[in-house]
This record gives sequence, structure tokens and C-alpha cells, in this order.
Amino acid sequence: MWGLLQSALVYANALAPAWSGVSGVVPQKHHKAPHAPYADGGAWADAFELAKDAVLNMTVEEKVNITSAILGPCPSNTGGVPRLNITGMCFDDGPAGPRYTDFVTQFPSAFFAAASFDRDLIYERAVRIGNEFRGKGINVALAPVTGGPLGRSPYAGRNWEAFSPDPYLSATMSGITVRGMQSSGLITCAKHYVLYEQEPVCTGPLDWTGGRTDCRDVSSNVDDKTFKELYLPSFVESVRAGTGAVMCSYNLINGTFSCENDYTMNTILKGELNFQGFILSDYGATHSTIPSAMSGMDMELPSVAYFGPHLLEAVKHGHVPVHRLDDMVRRILTPWYAFQQHRSYPETNFQKWTLEDEIEIDGRKFRNAHADNRGDNPSFARKIAAESTVLLKNTGVLPLRHIRRIGVFGSDADYPHTLSGCGPDLFCMTASKERYWNGTVTIGGGSGAAYADYVGIRVDHLLHDDPAHFVSMGFIASQSEVCLVFVSVFLKENQDREPGLRLDKGGEDLIRAVEARCAGEVVVIIHAGGQVVVEDWVHLPRIGGVIFAGYPGQETGNALVDILWGDVNPSGKLPFTMGKATSDWPTGNILRETSRGWFGSETNPRSVFSEGLAIDYKWFDKYDITPRYEFGFGLSYTTFEMASLKVEKTWIKATDTVQATNEKHEGGDGLYDTIYVARVNLTNTGSTAGAEVAQLYMSYPQSEVEQPPRHLKGFHKVYLQPGQTQTVQMHLRKKDISVWDVKHQTWRIPKGRFVFYAGNSSRNLPLEFKLDVKDKK
Ligand SMILES: *[C@@H]1O[C@H](CO)[C@@H](O)[C@H](O)[C@H]1NC(C)=O
Ligand SMILES: *[C@@H]1O[C@H](CO)[C@@H](O)[C@H](O)[C@H]1NC(C)=O
Ligand SMILES: *[C@@H]1O[C@H](CO)[C@@H](O)[C@H](O)[C@H]1NC(C)=O
Ligand SMILES: *[C@@H]1O[C@H](CO)[C@@H](O)[C@H](O)[C@H]1NC(C)=O
Ligand SMILES: *[C@@H]1O[C@H](CO)[C@@H](O)[C@H](O)[C@H]1NC(C)=O
Ligand SMILES: *[C@@H]1O[C@H](CO)[C@@H](O)[C@H](O)[C@H]1NC(C)=O
Ligand SMILES: *[C@@H]1O[C@H](CO)[C@@H](O)[C@H](O)[C@H]1NC(C)=O
Repeated sequence: MWGLLQSALVYANALAPAWSGVSGVVPQKHHKAPHAPYADGGAWADAFELAKDAVLNMTVEEKVNITSAILGPCPSNTGGVPRLNITGMCFDDGPAGPRYTDFVTQFPSAFFAAASFDRDLIYERAVRIGNEFRGKGINVALAPVTGGPLGRSPYAGRNWEAFSPDPYLSATMSGITVRGMQSSGLITCAKHYVLYEQEPVCTGPLDWTGGRTDCRDVSSNVDDKTFKELYLPSFVESVRAGTGAVMCSYNLINGTFSCENDYTMNTILKGELNFQGFILSDYGATHSTIPSAMSGMDMELPSVAYFGPHLLEAVKHGHVPVHRLDDMVRRILTPWYAFQQHRSYPETNFQKWTLEDEIEIDGRKFRNAHADNRGDNPSFARKIAAESTVLLKNTGVLPLRHIRRIGVFGSDADYPHTLSGCGPDLFCMTASKERYWNGTVTIGGGSGAAYADYVGIRVDHLLHDDPAHFVSMGFIASQSEVCLVFVSVFLKENQDREPGLRLDKGGEDLIRAVEARCAGEVVVIIHAGGQVVVEDWVHLPRIGGVIFAGYPGQETGNALVDILWGDVNPSGKLPFTMGKATSDWPTGNILRETSRGWFGSETNPRSVFSEGLAIDYKWFDKYDITPRYEFGFGLSYTTFEMASLKVEKTWIKATDTVQATNEKHEGGDGLYDTIYVARVNLTNTGSTAGAEVAQLYMSYPQSEVEQPPRHLKGFHKVYLQPGQTQTVQMHLRKKDISVWDVKHQTWRIPKGRFVFYAGNSSRNLPLEFKLDVKDKK
């Protein structure tokens, strides 16, 4: 029903006077009484007082300066107030390390790090990334990607920048990452808020640079329950963890642009979640002055199209009240004071324009000091890449032992042609139907990219994908005891994946060609940013091993060697589900066509999130589809057993809240207090030391008809010696067992029988525990 209402809304938008794009002083219908929740600082009360005080001393011009981009050395800079010693801020991407600069570590991307299922490693990764940002004098990292996209569709071009389509895993990793990165005094920016689940739809021909044309942002139309339970939680945990900034996204939500969406920014983020920091716009995501300012957007980046002089005029004409401008400035300065950036913070010592020492733009000189703050981060990056590597198939060929003749195949095993030569987007790795030879894929392209100063890999010979070389490959393969075949999928911003979920550069053909001639067994190594359909080749008789190596970052080869030779026992688990065929996923959850409006004009296409809560493994569970490799799956060189699952009442007050939310909930305990604890015994029953991830899933009482069969609600990774047993505890917070009650607009614990399951994947759950929750008398 509301689909119809929404179409009316979208058409109304399309027919509305074209005030967006024109100067913000044009009065328009959106000009309603403001109800933007103004910040009070929350837990940053002292910093808020400083911000308040500073704002009292500023002119309107100075205030606007703080909300708007100016030319600077960074991908974005904002203005400051020199006479009050308030410096402007430097903003830089991205989630896997500082972008546009050298002497940084290219860490494994978020989705791959999530495969470690290891909270401690994720925290340490975040601390180390944060320190590298700080060392460059970056005030705000445009990271982490906290569930925008979450991963609704396997085709979305940017899923690899985020953690996982599972909201519990994603929200957990998001909160930890914000805490870790901000521990250095850096400000994080949780992004992309919100419901940014696909790239724009483009229908025009490619332009001369190969860029896409006639692009339209997509509207994500989602119901209230799905929004609250699935797409919002990772942002909620980022806000609780105290993220100083949030970025509004490119897409529309229910027909309104994200950066002028009063409901998602004012009502939800600043109201219900009590967010005390500032909302900045993604690059080019601002479409108006007044509606954006009144709907809650606090800052425009990376250049000024609607803020700056336009905002100044809107304030002078009274279209944006001065007290709203004051709120923007207080929100921006509060985290800056709270994290002591006014006291001691390194000055920006790089420039984004080139990797040269110095560049002059508009008469101003910007320097690159090539500062090196890596310390031992590369060796940590190697560790987390190995811990995240997922072993999908092993007939016993791995770990490699007593092997004297190895053949290595595929251009994905090659050293990249250039580490920085194709620019900070790394788009020259581009996937293409043609068989290019641009070296191994260590990360995706666009704002999630970072340079690798080197790539830890060293191999020789026959690193082609081209069928012209299949004969000579066969010759080498026929002499090899083990054939390592490297295949890849390069994903990038601004382009969703092609139908088919296949490997780039004909990877399937390469695997089959080597498999046909290999003297021994074939081990396939997949460098991909998401799901791959493997049915063409995974059952062939000589395929002895399959390794999902994700986007491991610069330590790719070193980490892989650790796994291949067994120096590290694999313990990574898939943070998403790999189906057997593309038809296993819901059709239509990625749009590829634009829509037509009333008079044949193109409108923003609407993506109706009709599958509701059932994405990824929950879809496969709900429709009983057997995946090839399920969420949570990953093999080891040893074996484990789990025993005796128990869930018991407890009460532990939440201690990880930096900023408290205003979320409504029934009953007395805090929404984030632990009220149950699950315990399970885990034993290493093999003869090799290794780590296993205990996974806890939960079914809601049957009265909750919208709920998919099972939800991840706990995980814990433990390292065990052969024969060792450990009792693992998993905390269940009130929110973890609650549902969003749409009618009463509150979180509530359903009454009835909950069933808990424990095991080592979403489809291998040998243990069960039933828990009856009754009405309190
Ligand atoms: C603002 O002005 C007041 C009074 O002149 C002064 O006490 C205070 O330190 C100033 N604050 C800032 C941040 O400049
Ligand atoms: C805006 O900020 C820049 C950078 O800090 C500064 O040079 C300029 O003077 C500021 N403008 C005003 C009006 O304060
Ligand atoms: C700005 O900093 C300088 C040097 O530290 C100091 O002398 C001056 O009082 C400061 N001004 C304000 C307004 O805080
Ligand atoms: C989108 O619209 C539907 C139908 O009006 C509404 O239930 C839902 O809360 C809206 N969601 C968001 C995020 O605006
Ligand atoms: C591979 O890299 C080379 C050299 O940078 C570049 O010319 C070529 O276009 C790249 N291939 C693709 C598919 O982008
Ligand atoms: C998963 O659990 C099964 C038993 O349920 C066990 O045989 C297997 O070794 C476990 N796999 C891993 C990787 O721990
Ligand atoms: C679980 O492990 C603990 C020791 O950590 C042990 O005391 C207990 O008996 C074990 N329970 C079962 C059912 O194996």
C-alpha cells in the first residue's frame, strides 16, 4: 500500500518547483517551523560549554566558515576562525587507511577483517588505522562504513567497504571500530547514512574517460520495522560509541534525498539516537541550502555548492534561523574540543593533490612531508589478514607439506603494475570483460581505497589469464604437484556488479584449464569483495582447496603463505552467504533501470525493500535454499566440538556507552544492559592448535511472524591447544532479544518461547536451548 503512496510522493517531488539547484534564498514550501533537535553535548558537556562560548564570540561569517568547505591540502578542509585560535579541520578517506598519501599501511578492508570474527583484532586494527590518520594531521577520518551499505544485495558495488549484511556482526564491529579509531583523538565519520544499498542507476553511454552518464540516485523505500531492526543498528552502535560525525548519503529515502531528509536526520539521528556530533554531506550529495540546513545537515563537503555564501544569505534573510546555524557550529566544535584537538593535534603534513613534495594552487603552497607513522602496523596487517582468510574447501592438500613443485597461475598472483600510478581511486585495476594484466587485487576502488607502499607478494611465471597461454600453462601444470590458481573480482564505487556474480577476466576458464592438466591438486585463491558463484568448477576432481582471501590489503602474499604452509591455522568465517546460483537471491533487489515520471521524464528509481528483514542467510533460511557456503562457515586444519549450551538470566549494566540514546523501550533495565548470558563449551578435538568461533543464533517466539528463522546474537573466537576445552560466554543485551514494536513505537521483548542455537556456522547448529519468557506478574 505505501508503495502507491510513495509513488505519489516521488512524482510530487519531480514536479515541485526546481528550487534545489538554485540559490538557497528562494523561499519554498519546505520552509516550516524548525524542530531540529539542538545539541546539548550529552556526555561531552565540558566541550559543549567551550563550543557554546566560542559561538557567542563569532560573527555570522565566521560561523558559516566552520560549516563549509574551503580550499586546502586535504580532500576536504573546512574554514576556521583564526582570531579565536579555532583552526579549520582536515577530512580524508577512508575505511582501510588514509587515502591519497604515502607511507601508510593498506589494511584489509572492513568486510574481510569482519571475517576474523575477532573483536580484539578489529579493535586493534581501528586503533592502528586511527593513529596513522592522526599522524598525517587528519582531524576527521571519513570512516568507518557502518552499514551503508549493509549488504542487502550481493551486487552492490560497495559492500566490501562495510562489515557484513548481518546487523549484529556489523553493529558490533562498527561500535568497536569507532571506539578504536577515536582513541587516538581522531574524529570518525560513520557513513553512509542511511539505506545506501546500491550505486546510482546510469543509462547513458560511457563518456570519454570511461565514466558513466545519465545517472540517477535510487530511493530506498523501507518500512519502519526493517529500518529499525536491520539498517539502523550499525549507526546506533556508532553513535553510542561516540562517533563525532556522520555522513549523509547519495541515495533518497522514501523519495527524499538523504541529506535533506528531516525524518532520518532530525527525528531519528538527532532525536531518537540523541546524536551530539555533526552531519556532513557526501561529496555531491547536497541538493539544497534551506531544506538541507533545516533537515539537519550541518556541513557541506568537499566544495561549496549550497552552503558557504548561499547559507550566509539564507541566514541573513531569515530563511535559516541563526540559532540553527549556532547549533551547527556547536555540533562541529564539540567533538573537536572533546577529543582535545584544540590542545594538541598534529598539523596536516600531506597534500592530496599529488605525491610530490609540494604543490601550488591559487597561490597557496601545500606540502607533503611523507611522514611515516606505520611502526609495526604492516606486521599487524599481515596477522589480521591471515586471521580473516576463509578456508572453504580442503580435501587434505592443505597445509602444504613436502611439496617440491608448485605451479602458480593467473595475473592475480602478479605484483601490481603500479601502486600509485593510476591515481587514488585505483581504477586501473578495473574489472573488464577483456583480460587485462594489472596484478593482484588487494583492495577495491574509490573512496574505500588506500595506497599500498608495497605489496607483500613475490611469485614468478605464467601469470596470465589469457586463453592464448592455456597451452603453456597446461605444460607447467602437468609438472606441478600443487597448482595455485589466483582469481579475482575487483569492485569499485559508482558501479554495481554485473549479473552472474562471476570472476573477472574469465577466472572460471583459467581454473578449468589448469585443473584439466595439473599433475596434483589445484588450490584456488579468490580475491574478491563479496559473493562469487563457484558451481562451474568447485566440484571438479582435482580442485583440492578453495581459499577466500577477500581484499587482504598490502600484506596479501605474506598472509596467504602463512595459511598455505600452516604457520597460521585458518579460522576466518564467511561474513555473508555464497549461494549456488544467482537465482538463490531475491530478484530485483538491485535496480538497473531508471523510472519514468508522468510526462515521460526520468525520475529517481525506487527500490522497494520488500524482502524486509530477510537478507543474506535469513533469506536462504526463510526459503529453505541450500547455499554453497553459508554465513559463518570456514574450515580449519584441526577439528572442534561444542557442548552444553545454556542461557541463563543475569544482569550486567552496560559500560560501553559513550553517548546515551533516547530510544524507547519497555521495562526497567537499560536497553544495552546484559540480561542473559549464553555459555557453551568448546574443545579442540584435533591435533593442531587453532581458533574457532562459537556462534549463537536465536529464533524469536512464533508470535513474531515477520522474523526470519534465525538471527546471529553472539559470537566469540577462542584459541585452543589440542585437547583443550574452554567455556565461552556470550552476553545478550536487552536490545538483542527485543523487537521494534511498530504500533507502540518502542523496543519490547516478545513473550513466549525463544530458541537459542550454538554451532560453528549459520547452518551447522548442533546445540539448542529453549527459553520461555513470560509476563511479569
Ligand atoms: C569569548 O568571549 C568571552 C568574553 O569576551 C571570553 O571570556 C571567552 O574566553 C571567549 N571564548 C573564546 C573561545 O574565545
Ligand atoms: C575561514 O577559514 C579560513 C581557514 O581557517 C581562514 O583563513 C579565513 O580567514 C576564515 N574566514 C573567516 C571569515 O573567518
Ligand atoms: C591564541 O593563541 C595564542 C598563542 O597560544 C594566545 O596568545 C592567544 O591568547 C590565543 N587567543 C585566544 C582568543 O584564545
Ligand atoms: C518510509 O515510508 C513508510 C511508509 O510511509 C514508513 O512506514 C517508513 O517509516 C518510512 N521510512 C523511513 C526511513 O522514512
Ligand atoms: C591496467 O593498467 C595499465 C597501466 O596503468 C592501464 O593502461 C590499463 O588501462 C589498465 N587496465 C584497465 C582495465 O584499466
Ligand atoms: C564445525 O563443527 C563440526 C561439528 O559440528 C566439526 O566437525 C568441525 O570440525 C567444525 N568445523 C570447524 C572449522 O571448527
Ligand atoms: C564445560 O567446561 C567446564 C570447564 O571450563 C567444565 O567444568 C564443565 O564440566 C564442562 N561442561 C560440559 C558439559 O562439558
